[in-house]
Amino acid sequence: MSSNQLDKKSEAWSALFSEPMSELVKRYTASVFFDQRLWQADVTGSLAHADMLAAQGIISDADHQSIQKGLGQIQKEIEAGQFDWKLDLEDVHLNIEARLTQLAGDAGKRLHTGRSRNDQVATDVRLWLRDEIDVISGLLAELQGALVDVAEQNIDVILPGFTHLQVAQPVSFAHHLLAYVEMFARDAERMGDVRRRTNRLPLGSAALAGTTYPLDRERVARTLGMVDDQGVAQLCQNSLDGVSDRDFAIEFCSAASLTMVHVSRLSEELILWMSQNFGFVRIADRFTTGSSIMPQKKNPDVPELARGKTGRVVGHLMSLITLMKGQPLAYNKDNQEDKEPLFDVVDTLKDTLRIFVEMIGGELNPASGKREGGITVNAQAMEAAAQKGFATATDLADYLVKKGLPFRDAHETVAKAVKAATSHNCDLSELPLSVLQEFHPSIEKDVFDCLSLRGSLNARNTLGGTAPAQIKIQIARHRDRLPG
Ligand code: ARG
Repeated sequence: MSSNQLDKKSEAWSALFSEPMSELVKRYTASVFFDQRLWQADVTGSLAHADMLAAQGIISDADHQSIQKGLGQIQKEIEAGQFDWKLDLEDVHLNIEARLTQLAGDAGKRLHTGRSRNDQVATDVRLWLRDEIDVISGLLAELQGALVDVAEQNIDVILPGFTHLQVAQPVSFAHHLLAYVEMFARDAERMGDVRRRTNRLPLGSAALAGTTYPLDRERVARTLGMVDDQGVAQLCQNSLDGVSDRDFAIEFCSAASLTMVHVSRLSEELILWMSQNFGFVRIADRFTTGSSIMPQKKNPDVPELARGKTGRVVGHLMSLITLMKGQPLAYNKDNQEDKEPLFDVVDTLKDTLRIFVEMIGGELNPASGKREGGITVNAQAMEAAAQKGFATATDLADYLVKKGLPFRDAHETVAKAVKAATSHNCDLSELPLSVLQEFHPSIEKDVFDCLSLRGSLNARNTLGGTAPAQIKIQIARHRDRLPG
């Protein structure tokens, strides 16, 4: 195509076509209004490709320089919002190439030597996603840091631990928060895994079968930072696979979905804890909204939306995985549909994580370097709730086991004691010693240590348990592995 032919591609692709596309079909097939978001990756990929073409003697140094200059100009135009994106030119790749050809003439037309949009777009998406994964990994580390900070301030705050949302055993609020730190730590690990498989170079696969030009794919990979920890270039090793599979994007959406599921679980707890019936925590007003009719309301909109947006992210995972299913090798235009879901997953996840860092940990005070104004904890309400529901019944059973009873008998004995306490409308720890002794003669005064909330916590002093001593070990471990 001559440069003005490229400009008017809409009229017909080439001499082969006898009629232009209708306006509707043009809009239906175009992607430029969403894939222009890939422009930086497209320019970076093209610069790396041109550098290699010149190094291999496939294009001249003069052409290489014109391409560099033209792409530099395009970069400036896009950044300044002055680039004229044309629907007629279908996608980000053809838009940039057409402009380059306007600016650099034949040199611009030589850039596509040994390349196809098929390996170009696969490269662009991988480059773009890799950088987004790095941002997300940073945010996951920040969220863990915020949770560890709040945990550290609440080691001695006790709330009821639940199973089936029924009071089960007392736990430290710090221990509860650190459970989420574990989840987000695994999410970060998964992101790291996905990054490794995303950061591989399809360029050089060309349309599907490879290329006849003596390309140096490893050089391109190194230029683009597609290397492993040892600096070894990471290449897609099969051209058909390189241009067509989007499993890295699916994997990413899967890791993002799990992260959102964890955010959603935390959101559900925040929503419960903020309700009048619990009253365990408050979040800053800027994360809540009022009601247009009920003046007393402060609604936890942010956690609710995060819970809701989890469905949206999981939905995008379903879109991508269904998009891939049934595609024969190699590239099919179906894959153009990978972008909008993927972009939305990235945007939703980043926004959610940013908001949660601030909502949980508070805003960073540049003077102190510390976060301030995160969630407010009502320790009294938590502890009062833990006093109800016989949270230390297991501790009494364990006490009897230490006195020589088989666990099953101890379990039965305590069940009777709970029944008695229920009829007296009091906690086990409020029953007089003489009454407790009626259930078993081995019960002595020291039983009250194990019936207290703090005694119960302290007793769970094995790795992973809720004893404050264990929590301190875990906090130190997290501080050690988290940046900053
Ligand atoms: N816009 C296309 C996409 O996103 C670029 C690749 C087009 N390749 C092709 N043979 N039509 O997938």
